[in-house]
Amino acid sequence: MSPTSTTSSTTGSWLVQGLLAGAAIVAAAGAYAVISTRRTAKYRSRVVGIIPARFASSRFQGKPLIPILGKPMIQRTWERAKLATTLDKLVVATDDERIAEICLGFGADVIMTSESCQNGTERCNEAIQKLRKKFDIVVNIQGDEPLIEPEIIDGVVKALQAAPDAVFSTAVTSLKPEDASDPNRVKCVVDTHGYAIYFSRGLIPCNKSGKANPHFPYLLHLGIQSYDTQFLKIYPDLPPTTLQLEEDLEQLKVLENGYKMKVIKVDHDAHGVDIPEDVKKIELLMREINLS
Ligand SMILES: *[C@@H]1O[C@H](CO)[C@@H](O)[C@H](O)[C@H]1NC(C)=O
Ligand SMILES: *[C@@H]1O[C@H](CO)[C@@H](O)[C@H](O)[C@H]1NC(C)=O
Repeated sequence: MSPTSTTSSTTGSWLVQGLLAGAAIVAAAGAYAVISTRRTAKYRSRVVGIIPARFASSRFQGKPLIPILGKPMIQRTWERAKLATTLDKLVVATDDERIAEICLGFGADVIMTSESCQNGTERCNEAIQKLRKKFDIVVNIQGDEPLIEPEIIDGVVKALQAAPDAVFSTAVTSLKPEDASDPNRVKCVVDTHGYAIYFSRGLIPCNKSGKANPHFPYLLHLGIQSYDTQFLKIYPDLPPTTLQLEEDLEQLKVLENGYKMKVIKVDHDAHGVDIPEDVKKIELLMREINLS
């Protein structure tokens, strides 16, 4: 199977109408790349996956090391990410010796980053500068999504490779009706080519009935994102923007500055670990679907 058909088969069946055109562009550009790159380097071909992991967290100390069915959460994320076929390299970026030691123990590459990194993006940026090799794309893989599908990682990478005008790519999935009014669930709207228009903690679009429309395919933003490395160098230094500050959403800074962001829609049940209680839920689910 060609990379193109893999993308469309993993994303194809549940594409909402608005994203269909975007998928077609991915497919077309992908096919072009296959033909034109027999001898030359493929566009944005060198890809590194980075799992940023910090020990200190106001809500959940030592979160990356919390055992999930006996394995540290970070190891579970790493094992899933290892299965992605588009990554040339996968590293854990951390400021903590305990995390570093455990990651080296299960075979991960580790890059030490400073404690002053304010967020995962900054940590990725510092890590990439410490890597000896050059990369065109960095995928920021959240360490607290231990059930991340490798296909989603590959999906955002391929989307960015196929959209030269975008500097950033990310993924969304169907929003569950019960999450419509939860401000911690970030919603997204996209244009007909699959580029992000806006992200909000509020329900977008807003129906004139004032209630969630059970028939509208609302989109939930997933944490995974990939960036063009050139863009990542300037991203943390772009000054905060009005909408970013109001919604407290980093990704808005990208859009407000006029950069384009490609969005893929995936079928994913988000099982992020934000609080200790989430671990029980994930373990229950993993037992149910026979993951160990
Ligand atoms: C808005 O949502 C309601 C249900 O809450 C639905 O009946 C209606 O068709 C939706 N669209 C508009 C334009 O009101
Ligand atoms: C990360 O933190 C830095 C410093 O507080 C801030 O400037 C930046 O906007 C944050 N987000 C990103 C995506 O860089």
